[in-house]
Amino acid sequence: MRDPRMEAFVQQVRAQTDILAVVQGYVPLKRKGNRYWGCCPFHNEKTASFSVVPADGFFYCFGCHAGGDAFKFISLMEHITPFEAILRQAEQLGIEKPEQKRDPREEARLRELDDLRKVNALARDFFHNCLTVTRYGAAGKAYLAGRGITDEAIVRYGIGFAPDAWSKLSDAFRKRGISEHILVTAGLAVRRERGEGVYDRFRNRVIIPIADERGRIVAFGGRALGDAQPKYLNTAETPVFNKRKLLFGLDRAHRAIASEGAAIVVEGYMDAIAAWEAGVQNVVATLGTSFTSDHATLLLRRAPRIVFCYDSDAAGQEATLRALAAVRGRAAEVRVLLLPDGKDPDEYVRTHGAEAFRALVETAVPAPAFRLRHVRSHMTDSVEGRRAALREMLPVLAELDEITRAAYVRQTATELFLDEGIVTDALRRFLRQGAAEPLQNTAPQRMAVRQGDDALRRAGREIIAAIWRDPALLTEILSSIPMEDFPDEFIAGLLRAMAAHLDAGGVLDADFIAAQPTAAGDELTRAIVEEGRTEASYQEALGTLRRSYLTHALARHTRRAEEMMQEGKEGYIDELNEVKKIQDEIARENLHE
Ligand code: UTP
Ligand code: MN
Repeated sequence: MRDPRMEAFVQQVRAQTDILAVVQGYVPLKRKGNRYWGCCPFHNEKTASFSVVPADGFFYCFGCHAGGDAFKFISLMEHITPFEAILRQAEQLGIEKPEQKRDPREEARLRELDDLRKVNALARDFFHNCLTVTRYGAAGKAYLAGRGITDEAIVRYGIGFAPDAWSKLSDAFRKRGISEHILVTAGLAVRRERGEGVYDRFRNRVIIPIADERGRIVAFGGRALGDAQPKYLNTAETPVFNKRKLLFGLDRAHRAIASEGAAIVVEGYMDAIAAWEAGVQNVVATLGTSFTSDHATLLLRRAPRIVFCYDSDAAGQEATLRALAAVRGRAAEVRVLLLPDGKDPDEYVRTHGAEAFRALVETAVPAPAFRLRHVRSHMTDSVEGRRAALREMLPVLAELDEITRAAYVRQTATELFLDEGIVTDALRRFLRQGAAEPLQNTAPQRMAVRQGDDALRRAGREIIAAIWRDPALLTEILSSIPMEDFPDEFIAGLLRAMAAHLDAGGVLDADFIAAQPTAAGDELTRAIVEEGRTEASYQEALGTLRRSYLTHALARHTRRAEEMMQEGKEGYIDELNEVKKIQDEIARENLHE
């Protein structure tokens, strides 16, 4: 948005927007000092950890870490984009939006997105009518009846049928003036390889419409009636459909997810539909893809707990392990719901009934317990087998907080038939190795990025808050800790973004935060609104980061000096001088403490 009139418009709306009034329209708040507190509307809680600082213009939840300005708040509450939130505010405040001279290419792109959603909505109606009112739908109806899907469910989920013919949809839509180009782009039709024209992509399949978070149809899943392959045919990526960022059913389930404080993730849409029909509403499905960290973000915005309920076959268990890896290090409570006797949720509901499924949901086990069970299940009984199993469990144990860890160390020992002392010792060695890894090794660095809230991250936020108040501090900070060796990758990324923005003549304000990716924006907001920032806490944070940088630098120079000595290179003297200098500084620092 480089149009200066547009920027002025946004500035004006921002200036006249009172975040307190906006939030209080949704959440009762109580004042304490310069801050207002209430129960967070984005996750389920009984004690207030959601706060608004009117002076800064930000809200932040210390529980689920949602945060941002008034527009971000409105966008989250209303499931609209922040820009739409600005427009809505403008309307309420009676501020007129400048006539835009939009970039014609941008204009065309937005029009295409709109056309794609419209044609998808029409296609849903087409498929649904085929199933429910035309004679073509008979086979589909019989199939659905055989799966126990009622007529009410067919209407509720807009289920349809693609006729067993080459171009019923394409012909009908062309007659209505819809272009071949848009049919192909939407993934509804395919260009003929020989000759002119297009043919329908979905044929002789039961059709499940796939909606985005806001309920707009963006894709379809087609289930073959019999054993035809592929069993499921989904819309491929289109400009409105990215399956790595979309969860089937989120539009229906988001309220239940927020009120339950948990989201249940299943593998297939049929599983989600079965669970909804059984009265379990907080269920979403991935769409023939692995669970991604984008998916996690979508869910954790609404609830702190994620429960994976995948098929109980080997593939489902592997998928569960991958999903657990995708949420590792996120501030989330992760559980796994195990389905007995080789079932997926859909089959489970059909054999055991809704009541049994609802009861089962309560039995979900915590992620580390699932990992232990998994390791145990493929452990061979030899000494080597038990050693391998222990090795597999060490990273799992290492991630836990101390209290939880103690419990799982005990359980691991029992399950693997090992002495508890052996597990404890192995874990201690593992943790020490991890901490001593040099910075060059990228693995622990990546761990640091994922890690939720360690001392380095807290220190990082402290200095970000300082730069926010006084951008001139950036130079001082970077002279003490070079950007390229910054101990926390994520914070380094934020600093880089801030530096680039300041270099380009920008100011650090709410617009800057709004332009950042969600995770970065949340961390920035958190840095700004956290309390207890003083000159002393700033100095301490700087010290923490500097010490961490020095420790890594020391290891690096030591190793380089050793390598050079072994290779007989002269330069090792310089390296040793560096080592000496760093050792001296660390010694001085220790004297001061
Ligand atoms: P499953 O094979 O477990 O399907 O795939 P399901 O849900 O049990 O289906 P039914 O009960 O046999 O009808 C789970 C999900 O993986 C994707 C689909 O999204 C499906 O819901 N999938 C599966 C595909 O995209 N293509 C396939 O060929 C198979
Ligand atoms: Mn199934």
